[in-house]
Amino acid sequence: IRCQFTSTDEPKTKLKLLDNASNLLTNLLSGGKIGSMPIAEGAVSDLFDRPLFFSLYDWFLKYGSVYKLAFGPKAFVVVSDPIVARHILRENTFSYDKGVLSEILEPIMGKGLIPADLDTWKQRRRVITPGFHSSYLEAMAKVFTECADRTMLKFNKLLEQEESGGGKTIELDLEAEFSNLALDIIGLAVFNYDFGSITKESPVIKAVYGTLFEAEHRSTFYIPYWNIPLARWLVPRQRKFQNDLKVINDCLDGLIQNAKETRQEADVEKLQQRDYLNLKDASLLRFLVDMRGVDVDDRQLRDDLMTMLIAGHETTAAVLTWAVFLLAQHPDKMKKAQSEIDAVLGQGRTTFESLKKLEYLRLIVVESLRLYPQPPLLIRRSLKSDKLPGGYNGDKDGYEIPAGTDVFLSVYNLHRSPYFWDKPNEFEPERFLVQRESQGIEGWAGFDPSRSPGALYPNEIISDFAFLPFGGGPRKCVGDQFALMESTIALAMLLQKFDVELKGSPEDVELVTGATIHTKTGLWCKLKKRSNV
Ligand code: HEM
Repeated sequence: IRCQFTSTDEPKTKLKLLDNASNLLTNLLSGGKIGSMPIAEGAVSDLFDRPLFFSLYDWFLKYGSVYKLAFGPKAFVVVSDPIVARHILRENTFSYDKGVLSEILEPIMGKGLIPADLDTWKQRRRVITPGFHSSYLEAMAKVFTECADRTMLKFNKLLEQEESGGGKTIELDLEAEFSNLALDIIGLAVFNYDFGSITKESPVIKAVYGTLFEAEHRSTFYIPYWNIPLARWLVPRQRKFQNDLKVINDCLDGLIQNAKETRQEADVEKLQQRDYLNLKDASLLRFLVDMRGVDVDDRQLRDDLMTMLIAGHETTAAVLTWAVFLLAQHPDKMKKAQSEIDAVLGQGRTTFESLKKLEYLRLIVVESLRLYPQPPLLIRRSLKSDKLPGGYNGDKDGYEIPAGTDVFLSVYNLHRSPYFWDKPNEFEPERFLVQRESQGIEGWAGFDPSRSPGALYPNEIISDFAFLPFGGGPRKCVGDQFALMESTIALAMLLQKFDVELKGSPEDVELVTGATIHTKTGLWCKLKKRSNV
């Protein structure tokens, strides 16, 4: 197959020609079809024109809930089906690893939970999960409130400055503000370090953002150029990345050392009795060092902390960003949320207990996660051949996949599936209050809150894997309740004090995606003090 273009051709034309040639080659090599799985042919330009998950959605509607996506010589199986998702995430979870995601994240997170090999993962997951128990979360509700308070104070100050000049509103990029807030929270909650990023900049903060930027870039770049020998020394961006990593690692090493040197039996006792509210340092690092003794491996601890820092920061900031974006387009729902906040909190502060009463706000958070799941795709690679179960549309017998198959589990597609949700693209937090019947889809149990009694937030169990904001099965997010509480508290404190509007029109807010869905140029909003405050 020859692909000919001239130097005057537009880059897009060249990409299209290359696409056609490589698709032709794939089809020839595969005999046009692999098994009976439908094949969607992606163009390389699909990777650049708009976020990939939009195209995956269009193909889902066209080809069904399990299809193969051929990108030139590379192929992925795209899954948008709760039964198949349940199989991969829960029933046959150890037949899969994180594939390309591990390759991207391993240089940053080492043997942290996300990229870790199975043996390390099993050992660390057992140690880390108990750290997120309810007494810890209760202590963290205080941290969330205090940090959100700092953000609101900052906004108030800016407004006062504006008011002294006769203005009544301020314009702010709320995405950036949420990012700072989430960074301060994760620093304090995970390793008792105050980044103070709401009010200042520092070399460590810059290094964290530099590392996040690189992680993001790597997850959208499909050639692992960073593995090319000497690239880390020769490519300026890679050199900067190595420097950023060193700054963070040195900071984390210092904190680990300090936690080991200040270990005290009295604190260990309080931890064992779950007396978190009387601990000066209730961080996860304290738990990991105190409960395990000082000989826990420093390198592993550092990888664990770095993983939490990355996994727990942008994701939460993104939930808050999209919640505000959606609310700003639905002033009636914003008012409804504010009425709830006024009734539950008045002018008081959020607490662990008040969260239970902020039901509408909690539903806003989960509905935002439904429409903008973070990340929009879960990535897996089969370690052995597997038989995927039949989905609700497409081939009812299911499909055989060989070892080494890359799978994209599209949470975005599942969350906006017209087969499971009424008006799937609409922002309707109330939808979670309505108990849904299973629509008679074989093998899927439908929505039923009684399957997860006592859960404050709808989850994958209630929806039998049609709603997967934190994944599911053994590799489900360890920080799910932490993140939900954090987002609810931050949103409550914002709406308690301020009315929020978008600065421009919603169409001006362009989406980009890497690990999370975020905006291209920020979420620019107008804030004004609520009249009753
Ligand atoms: C895993 C989402 C916040 C730590 C995951 C997964 C999802 C997710 C979907 C599963 C990934 C997969 O199966 O491939 C989110 C969202 C968050 C959030 C939407 C915020 C709204 C947090 C926080 C922490 C955290 C705050 C820690 C403090 C982790 C870790 C894993 C993980 C360590 C890997 C678990 C494992 O493989 O055992 N998260 N997360 N996440 N998350 Fe979160």
